[in-house]
Amino acid sequence: MKDFNVAILGCGTVGGGVARIMSELQEEISNRASRKINLRKIVELTPDSAAKRFSLPTDLFYGHGKNLTGEEAEHYIKEVLEAEDIDLVVETIGGSNDYIENLAVKVCEAKKHLVTANKALLAERGKAIFDTAKTNDVTVGFEAAVCGAIPIIKTIKESFTGDSIISLSGIMNGTSNYILSMMQNEGMEFEEALKLAQENGYAETDPTLDINGYDAGHKLVILLKLAFGVDIAMDELSIGGIENISREDIEFAEEINCKIKLICYAKKIDGKIYATVCPMMVKNSNFLSGVKGVTNAVRVVNKYSGKHILLGAGAGSFETASSIVADIVFAAKYSERGQVSYDKQSLDFIDASHFEFPYIMTFETADVPGITGLVTTSVGHQNINIDTVSHNRHKKDRATFSIATMPCTMLQIEKTIAEITNNNPDLLLSTPKVIPILY
Ligand code: HSE
Repeated sequence: MKDFNVAILGCGTVGGGVARIMSELQEEISNRASRKINLRKIVELTPDSAAKRFSLPTDLFYGHGKNLTGEEAEHYIKEVLEAEDIDLVVETIGGSNDYIENLAVKVCEAKKHLVTANKALLAERGKAIFDTAKTNDVTVGFEAAVCGAIPIIKTIKESFTGDSIISLSGIMNGTSNYILSMMQNEGMEFEEALKLAQENGYAETDPTLDINGYDAGHKLVILLKLAFGVDIAMDELSIGGIENISREDIEFAEEINCKIKLICYAKKIDGKIYATVCPMMVKNSNFLSGVKGVTNAVRVVNKYSGKHILLGAGAGSFETASSIVADIVFAAKYSERGQVSYDKQSLDFIDASHFEFPYIMTFETADVPGITGLVTTSVGHQNINIDTVSHNRHKKDRATFSIATMPCTMLQIEKTIAEITNNNPDLLLSTPKVIPILY
């Protein structure tokens, strides 16, 4: 079979890792694909530093190691797109904008396979890219886009095809998990833990998407498509972040044998899908509660084969690059047979208003007699079955207490809070915190 030739666009942390692994494992990956795989060329604005960082020969780079202007890089990208002997393009430039979307589409139009780690691009603008790939009989590999090194895409796409997924839950953002772990284990405040994550190079330069749940949301959107065959736009998914989690919440979680984790959750129930990304109180009996630091984990429950857990590095240069190289081998071996295909389903989404989950509601009130009774009475009026009521945590003239509910809907909870506020406008000193409990 003829050689399979690869070009890389962008030789930063991930692209450089891909180039390094391809150089080190060229013989092995060629054997695995049953054809020779060559890394032909790299387009990179600052090739000299990339070459040094990843011990790569400068002649692998367009411009022979000299820094490129934007225009020169554009020229070389065009050359890659026009090169008849390039079979696959790795996009490791990043970003989700018109330029990157157009580039990904052009790669597919040029009848080259595309491999990318770009979760934001696929979650926000994936349709045009997948449609163009299909029309042009090329594959889009994106194993690296969800949980870095963890082979969750292939597991769902290839290994679970004889089953039916009931639910997915996972820790899919290492930065937020690191921050929560540091708050939990080292007694840090949120800001201190975030600073440490940045100093250790875990958080992105702008950590907003890590903290507000959107990075995890991108990953869940991609998995929803594969696991349940449904397309959901980012703005249809309910997404919450960890920015409001306090030390007090963490300490209370300890007390009730839980850890607070940013959880991606999806469940198929009665032909409908409930999906959310938000901080949850994860019971210590659930495997996800013990996943610490930047590690990612995905828990899948299938109808016939039961529970599965995949655990590993969710980010990192070589870790993410290994998934990209696996996609390259897959494309070289199976070519168009590797296309993303999924049973399109017309499942409806249900939101938290109507999906039943057990919750922890935390109320901050004045520290005076009778308040617990007023609050629990309103909870009862909304037909919410209480599991436990915590002791009061007293602070100066304030008291905080929490109610763990049996499964109920957010609509019931919202009505409870409205009733408390209507009956006693001054009773609640802040908006109650409501966090789902994951058993
Ligand atoms: N910044 C992400 C994380 C990795 O912290 O897990 C890339 O999605």
